[in-house]
Amino acid sequence: MSRERIFSGMQPSGRFHLGNYMGALENWVKLQEEYECFFSIVDLHSLTSSFEDTSKLQENIYEMALDWLSAGLDPEKNVIFVQSKVKEHAELFLLLAMSTPLSWLERVPTYKDKLLQLGELGKDINTYGFLGYPVLMAADIMLYKATCVPVGEDQAAHLELTREIVRRFNHLYKKEVFPEPRAVYSQAKVLPGIDGRKMSKSYGNTIPFGAGSAEMKERIRMMVTDPQRIKKTDKGNPDVCTVYTFHKVFNRENSDEIADKCRAGEIGCVQCKNCLAEKMNCLLADIHLRREELKKKPAFIKEVLEYGAERAGKVASSNMEEIKRAMNVL
Ligand code: TRP
Repeated sequence: MSRERIFSGMQPSGRFHLGNYMGALENWVKLQEEYECFFSIVDLHSLTSSFEDTSKLQENIYEMALDWLSAGLDPEKNVIFVQSKVKEHAELFLLLAMSTPLSWLERVPTYKDKLLQLGELGKDINTYGFLGYPVLMAADIMLYKATCVPVGEDQAAHLELTREIVRRFNHLYKKEVFPEPRAVYSQAKVLPGIDGRKMSKSYGNTIPFGAGSAEMKERIRMMVTDPQRIKKTDKGNPDVCTVYTFHKVFNRENSDEIADKCRAGEIGCVQCKNCLAEKMNCLLADIHLRREELKKKPAFIKEVLEYGAERAGKVASSNMEEIKRAMNVL
């Protein structure tokens, strides 16, 4: 029985942290057991908004590969590769660009939001490439005829557009070349940063992915707790405490007891933090160790990516031939 095919990608923006892991990568590691997966480090996508300073690009790609392998993605089970190494992504992007109506792109909700958002930061991305971002994403998915795409809320509109592009292509060229991909949603666990806001590099509130026990402990030590609670014996409110939010994610089985003790003033914040640090280190120790080991083997990482690009390239070139035949681009 053949398994359904997944395509997904992540931009190598050099900001991988525990929040990213819990939001997506942890889920990928599970999906690899059930699906045939193509996981791509989408460097071309990162150029749509970061085309000016590309000095860190190669380093970020390498770091992302390191993160993925440390998390437990298996380069034998999955096809793991860098998008730009398979030229057909660019070729299909170009072909799809011809028939994609401008209005479809302009009405993608993330488009204007992001333009404004980055505009406020003084960054101008009023470019052709940025407008075309969802077309490139459609090309990624369609190139492999993927039927499933694990996406978060933020990418749902992009996937919907991919489906429209698929329908239009099949209709225009009178052939069912592409399947309509569907979303596979996961119960993404949203982690706040150590200050309780959204975890984000720009807020300086992240826990780095692959942190060792000392670093983990230090970041947890800095977490904000219930500000009303001054003394250990004060009754606390776990619902406003970041440490408790983390307990609910990483220490589910003990979180009710911890909340009760906090409310009763029976456990102090320091002890509560130590308990969390211990639990998280225990859960994430394997990842940390694997990352440290892999760091010593840059040649291996390079090999994994070359092997992935070769496997992806085979599927891509054969599908590309069929696509171009349907379009009479011979
Ligand atoms: N746009 C996605 C993101 O920023 C990354 C991405 C690129 C992607 N191509 C994809 C995700 C194809 C799923 C499928 O998260």
